[in-house]
Amino acid sequence: MRAFTFTNTSLLLSIPNSLLALLASNRTLTVHCLHVHVLPFYPRSKIVVISVGEDTFAASELPFLLSAIRNVHLILRDIGIRSISVSTTFSFFNIVTTTFPPSATTFKEPIGEVVIQPLL
Ligand SMILES: *[C@@H]1O[C@H](CO)[C@@H](O)[C@H](O)[C@H]1NC(C)=O
Repeated sequence: MRAFTFTNTSLLLSIPNSLLALLASNRTLTVHCLHVHVLPFYPRSKIVVISVGEDTFAASELPFLLSAIRNVHLILRDIGIRSISVSTTFSFFNIVTTTFPPSATTFKEPIGEVVIQPLL
C-alpha cells in the first residue's frame, strides 16, 4: 500500500470472505479493520473501492454479505470518508445458471434470493 502513496494509481481493496460474518455483526471489529488497513493510507493512496468479499461465496457466508457491505459503508461515512465506494465482486459466470439465450438467464440460488433480490 505504501508503494502507491502519492501515485495516481486507483486501488481496489478486497476484504476476504472469512471476515464477512464478523464485519456484519461486530461494529468494533469493523471500525478497527478500517483504522488499521485504510486510514493510514488514505487519502495519500488513491483507494477508490473496497470490495467486501470476493467472488466465490460459500452458502454460509452469503447471508452476511449485505450487512457487511452496509456496515463498512456506514462506518466510512461516520469517519468522514465519502470518496471510497463499497461494493463486492462477482464473476458473472459464477452467479448465473446459463448465459444464452440472455432471456433464459437466471441467478443461481441461494445468491439470487439472498443477495441480488434485496438489491433490486
Ligand atoms: C468484536 O470484536 C472485538 C475486537 O476484535 C472483540 O474484542 C469483541 O469481543 C467482539 N465482540 C463480539 C460480540 O464478538
